[in-house]
Amino acid sequence: MRICCIGAGYVGGPTMTVIASKCPDIRIDVVDLNAERIAAWNSDNLPVFEPLLESLVKSVRGVNLFFSTDIDSAIDAADIVFISVNTPTKTYGYGAGSASDLRFVESCARKIAEVSKSDKIVVEKSTMPVRTADVLKAILSEGSVKFQVLSNPEFLAEGTAIENLENPDRILIGGDEDTESGRRAIGVLSDIYARWVPRERILTTNLWSSELSKLTANAFLAQRISSINAISALCEATGADVDQVAKAVGSDSRIGPKFLKSSIGYGGSCFQKDLLNLVYLCEHFNLPKVADYWRKVVEMNSYQKHRFSRLVIDSLFRNICGKRLAIFGFAFKENTNDTRESPAIDICKDFLSENAKLAFYDPKVSKRQILSDLGLSDGDSRVEFCDSPYKAAEGAHAIVLLTHWDEFKTLDYGKIKATMVRPSWIFDGRNCLDTRLLLELGYLVRGIGKGNLL
Ligand code: NAD
Ligand code: UGA
Repeated sequence: MRICCIGAGYVGGPTMTVIASKCPDIRIDVVDLNAERIAAWNSDNLPVFEPLLESLVKSVRGVNLFFSTDIDSAIDAADIVFISVNTPTKTYGYGAGSASDLRFVESCARKIAEVSKSDKIVVEKSTMPVRTADVLKAILSEGSVKFQVLSNPEFLAEGTAIENLENPDRILIGGDEDTESGRRAIGVLSDIYARWVPRERILTTNLWSSELSKLTANAFLAQRISSINAISALCEATGADVDQVAKAVGSDSRIGPKFLKSSIGYGGSCFQKDLLNLVYLCEHFNLPKVADYWRKVVEMNSYQKHRFSRLVIDSLFRNICGKRLAIFGFAFKENTNDTRESPAIDICKDFLSENAKLAFYDPKVSKRQILSDLGLSDGDSRVEFCDSPYKAAEGAHAIVLLTHWDEFKTLDYGKIKATMVRPSWIFDGRNCLDTRLLLELGYLVRGIGKGNLL
């Protein structure tokens, strides 16, 4: 059997690496239009940072996993083609700002239809609006080759991708359950996953349930974060501690403890885009009240990011003009080099609009990426890039911790304080530092939802 995956991104690369490692008899070709990205997958400097990924890639690359730009022949040779390309929010025309931009998906379908000479299963791995499979079917049904379309959304989280892929909570496969060929296609894909995933965790549904479940899962996760972040504002006003509230609330087995960590807001390429897509779908199906409900989750996230910038500015005597702020972390979460929709972007833009000077340290994000995210050119005197957090903090009025990297928890904050301007502030946007110790060292400390520190 041969698999082709179109799209060598944060999903395509790690997902196919794990399938290749679990199925040594299947040849997998991961293809992409982006030659630079493919070259990086073939080098020692992978384009995606994920714990455990590098050694796993090395164990299968060139054996049964291949990265290439030769899209046409990889599609033609495959029995199963995964579409794992980006589905960003549309920025133009009808639905701009909320609908999904499906032009990359559509061009994959056209390419598959154009170059395929044998029957294939086509799998939606990208997150798609409900009923996208209809679009694929319409394009693929033009010729004599027969295609079966399946929906198999990905639930991995960045930073834990390999762990999630090797031991998933569930695998979801949607297909045409009503036809013999549809059931056969579902069976073929299920059998691949069943090599390492227990059968009871492989859920099969119709196409539309599968497509909608992916959007709904992300909406529920984002909603939990916005809910606890809303409560964090109330904690600050009342003297309650949001981490204590989250623990008490999450101890109820009906609610559960996960995804209740209050923060500067969620980031990442998907939560906002998928929520906006859900809002768009609800409006499209004339359900404005449902659309409003989910839109509020996005609004609360935006409020939380700007509320945090405001807390920093107000604490520093409402004046950060010319002041150096050490920015600890820029990735949207720990253990990834991804900065897409990172809350750090909006927060740092707020600081720059107040003419602050920013000194960045992130263990995995490049200077080039940060400059591009902030729309700055190299050499801008308002920003500096440091190779250690200690350097970033030298001469700073404040440390602003934006990403929960483990290394920030074990720094010598006594040593750091000696090099900072006084009073020295720490704004812990992830509530991950030892506040008591920092207060003992003489820092002024602010966290999220920590009323009793105010
Ligand atoms: P990405 O931007 O990292 O990768 C997509 C790749 O597709 C890019 O390298 C791009 O060059 C390539 N591409 C686009 N059009 C192409 C075409 N016509 N032919 C060949 N290559 C093409 O995106 P990603 O983060 O991997 O996400 C992919 C999809 O998976 C999205 O729909 C996303 O919502 C979903 N998803 C992402 C995550 C995540 O953690 N990033 C998790 C679950 C689901
Ligand atoms: C999320 C989902 O968790 C995945 O299941 C899904 O497959 C993926 O989106 C997707 O569709 O792209 P991801 O965005 O990679 O995964 O990472 P998460 O761990 O969900 O974190 C998202 C954001 O929420 C991060 O900025 C994180 O710091 C923040 N977060 C997370 C909180 O602020 N509090 C929490 O309790 C949890």
